Amino acid sequence: MTRYPALIDGAEVDGPATFADLDPSTGQVLAEVTRGGAADIDAAVAAARQAHKRSWRRTRPADRSRVLRRISDLIRRDRDQLAELESRDTGKPLRQAKADADIAARYFEFYAGAVEVLYGDTIPLDSDLFVYTLREPHGVTAHIIPWNYPLQIGARTVAPALAAGNCCVLKPAEEAPLTAIRLGRIALEAGLPAGALNVVPGFGEEAGAALAAHPGIDHLSFTGSVEVGRLVSKAAAEHVIPVTLELGGKSPNVIFADADLDAALPVVVNSIILNAGQTCSAGSRLLVEAPVHQRIVAELVGRFEKVTLGPGTADPDMGPLISATQLERVSGYVDLGKSEARVLTGGARPANGGLREGFFFMPTIFDDVPPTAVIAREEIFGPVVAVSMFGDLGEAVRLANGTDFGLVAAVWTRNVNTAHVMASEIQAGQVFVNTYGASGGPELPFGGVKRSGHGREKGLEGLLEFTRLKTVAMKLDPGASW
Ligand code: NAI
Ligand code: MG
Repeated sequence: MTRYPALIDGAEVDGPATFADLDPSTGQVLAEVTRGGAADIDAAVAAARQAHKRSWRRTRPADRSRVLRRISDLIRRDRDQLAELESRDTGKPLRQAKADADIAARYFEFYAGAVEVLYGDTIPLDSDLFVYTLREPHGVTAHIIPWNYPLQIGARTVAPALAAGNCCVLKPAEEAPLTAIRLGRIALEAGLPAGALNVVPGFGEEAGAALAAHPGIDHLSFTGSVEVGRLVSKAAAEHVIPVTLELGGKSPNVIFADADLDAALPVVVNSIILNAGQTCSAGSRLLVEAPVHQRIVAELVGRFEKVTLGPGTADPDMGPLISATQLERVSGYVDLGKSEARVLTGGARPANGGLREGFFFMPTIFDDVPPTAVIAREEIFGPVVAVSMFGDLGEAVRLANGTDFGLVAAVWTRNVNTAHVMASEIQAGQVFVNTYGASGGPELPFGGVKRSGHGREKGLEGLLEFTRLKTVAMKLDPGASW
């Protein structure tokens, strides 16, 4: 059995306690992982503080950039191994895991470039005052990430933090910690100083809670559930530190009757099938204008029934859910949904005996879902789409905004006016028109409104989150006039 130790101050810390990390495609144990606790978090925070003080804070942006580029190169070198590990640990199809590795490499490359052009301002207040701003790192940053995209989200949050000159403590999820641990090793190999990136796997209530409550952290970024987002925010509020929260959503695809349906449908299907619906930005609601409702659901059913299921490494269209707990959660929502709306396809675990050991669930469509239904409002985090119908633009806006979430929305129409009005009225961090997700690369700022969270990751905004602004005003003595 492969063991995965924590990585603290450049050294592997193995045990003493461990936990079993499962392969969700088979339910079998994949690895034994160090079960980090409060003492490990203490050591990791202290190591990060030392690394920050000793070197990383004073390392020139050009040199930080060079290390980040090397990390990116090494991720590319190890792409296939990383992808296979991610696929086994999360159950996601191999080609999706490969795409994740490519995107992780891009994060390091993108922020390697961005930090070299991160300047402060001068402010022309008065002739005898020299005023300028400095963008400083926070210091020690804490990163608590989920199990759905460990490599991608790990890179998304750690790359800009390191680029800006922070030193990090990364706490991966207990369900899928392996690629985040590998990322820590790769960073060391690339020449990142010991202690600049510490990775402490462990349980949420242990390592996670200890990290969020630690008085030695200066910034906290969290991706996961609303419930835990609230908890870690409260912990951070004790020490009055900034928090970035990315808490998922209930994102709608809104299809108007004039849309190019042939273009829309494959994208709509992919937006909920991707990673078995366990994606924060999954297109879990489908709002369709009345005249095209019948045609859309008919085609959707056909496409859902062609989706192939299997172990991630066999590269099917869709893998299993992450865990028995998640399977129970999704099944629970689907059972409840059967009393609220109509199942058109799926609605159960697959009958295929070969898939019984893994945590598989069939792609599921609910039709005629009332906007008040639980399955129309709550995040299921499985391959389940809720279809509702609307009559006009106003109703489309009301339905689109009818949940507590606001992460992503997509509008499908050929009418420029409809596109602009929807883009302006929809409450979401990002709105797509005639597309969905725009490839998930690092360029586009990303984050939520309402319960989907606050703060922005990705893009230049994502780098600025990991800096704090200092304003310096210097009184000048102009001396003799000449
Ligand atoms: P979770 O919020 O419990 O887990 C996310 C991370 O938080 C993990 O690293 C976990 O160890 C950590 N954590 C858990 N409890 C903690 C605590 N008390 N203090 C500090 N850290 C803690 O999410 P979970 O239970 O795995 O999934 C439940 C639901 O959350 C999903 O069904 C989905 O709706 C949502 N979710 C959303 C994600 C997103 O991408 N926004 C990712 C994962 C889950
Ligand atoms: Mg696992």
